[in-house]
Amino acid sequence: MSKLLYVISSPRGEQSESRAIADEFLDAYRQSDPSVEVDVLELWTDTLPVYGGDGVAAKMSVFAGREPSGDQASAWAEVQRIFSRFDAADEYLFTVPMWNHGIPWVLKHLIDTISQPGMVFGFDPATGYEGLLAGKRAVVVYTSAVYYEGAPREFGTDFHRAYFNDWLRWAGIHPVSEVRFQPNLVTSDADAGRAVAKASARALGNRFALSGRRAA
Ligand SMILES: Cc1cc2nc3c(=O)[nH]c(=O)nc-3n(C[C@H](O)[C@H](O)[C@H](O)COP(=O)(O)O)c2cc1C
Repeated sequence: MSKLLYVISSPRGEQSESRAIADEFLDAYRQSDPSVEVDVLELWTDTLPVYGGDGVAAKMSVFAGREPSGDQASAWAEVQRIFSRFDAADEYLFTVPMWNHGIPWVLKHLIDTISQPGMVFGFDPATGYEGLLAGKRAVVVYTSAVYYEGAPREFGTDFHRAYFNDWLRWAGIHPVSEVRFQPNLVTSDADAGRAVAKASARALGNRFALSGRRAA
């Protein structure tokens, strides 16, 4: 049985384009494999504690090989709790709208909270970083209103998909499948693009269910 964490980074609820597409993935997946266990992390309502001074100090202590103590230890325990929820999944589904050419800050907050030594990454001074989340796979739904791949600079720059895909790679999460609905506002053909994105999400959902069953 697969455990899937559904991370929602749009606050737009029923209006969310990325969520509507991701829901198609999940619906197809569940129809093909009702045993999939889904944990939903709604980043705008299931708010994470602020990762601030104590958490940062704890990270630097751990990176230097020391044990955090006092307020740092409490902040570190919170980080471990959030990471454990993330790490409990073996599959991920993310909704990632483009916000000001990047990702919504709630998703960056999750990344900054859990990207810790001994959790998401290891480090060797000779060979560099090593992602510790190997053996997990992800589906990401990317949306933007104006930006599209190959667009002139005046329509935006991709610090969105490029950044998030690279974080997944750095963390060791592989393979990553994408569904993109870009642009979804400044286009004469939004309905067709939406239908294609939803169909490709459903196909991916079926594929995940089938390959999960084969692996089981
Ligand atoms: C705060 C904010 C910033 C945005 N920045 C961009 C942007 O830089 N480029 C773009 O093409 N669309 C931008 N958009 C539009 C969203 O990416 C687009 O509406 C997308 O469909 C949102 O996904 P959602 O419907 O799942 O929330 C922005 C929207 C918001 C609310």
